[in-house]
Amino acid sequence: MNKAKRPAVIAGNWKMNKTPAEAAALIEEMKPLVAGADCKVVLCVPAIDIPAAVEAAKGSNIEIGAENVHFKASGAYTGEIAANMLTEAGVKYVVIGHSERRQYFAETDQTVNLRTLAALNAGLNAIVCVGETLEQRELGYTETLLKFQTKMALTNVTEEQLKHVIIAYEPVWAIGTGVTATADQADEGNGYVRAAIAEMYGKEIAETVTVQYGGSMNAGNAEELLSKVNVDGGLIGGASLKAGDFSVIVKAAGK
Ligand code: PGA
Repeated sequence: MNKAKRPAVIAGNWKMNKTPAEAAALIEEMKPLVAGADCKVVLCVPAIDIPAAVEAAKGSNIEIGAENVHFKASGAYTGEIAANMLTEAGVKYVVIGHSERRQYFAETDQTVNLRTLAALNAGLNAIVCVGETLEQRELGYTETLLKFQTKMALTNVTEEQLKHVIIAYEPVWAIGTGVTATADQADEGNGYVRAAIAEMYGKEIAETVTVQYGGSMNAGNAEELLSKVNVDGGLIGGASLKAGDFSVIVKAAGK
């Protein structure tokens, strides 16, 4: 296994936090702290913040992402946002299938797949989230579930499109709880994801795909998590709302 084959990506997921003005201010604060980073730096922000965030990030190494995308190109889908609206606004990445979307907004493996295809067809990079609940882990289904979710999400994704896919392993029990998976648990979960990709595309291609860990990653635990062979980056919630903490994680990814 060789981490050098895949780019390290640290992505913030701001969730439903920050107004446009607050977003611009936080990005201004982050810019000098993450300048020259040895990994890709992405901030996924609320849709309404996108124009302000893109403007604030101009000329820096920070790329802006969205937190969701609809799978249709246009039409009567009140409240939804299409992929070409995001690209035109300067968005480069989009989070898909976050466990909060699965839990609170009836997201299914099928809609995760459709959204992934829509994002990729529009030229976006997809950050697809998978992860088991505590109950599923305790029942011994972690490997089965992670492989199933990964394969469902990637159905009909071509080898070429896979170059624009990041999978984020986020154990549901670790998100926003302060309970982080141990580095070994994160490595094992990410390994199951990579094994599922290998079963679909072959081992060599699976080695090139960035697999992030997410779930209470913070300035204190990032270095250990990111030292694991299968952990190629992080999807960061709470700690991405603080410029100092986020930049420590970004630096840990470059080590
Ligand atoms: P957290 O969120 O870092 O606040 O646990 C991670 C995520 O939901 O992506």
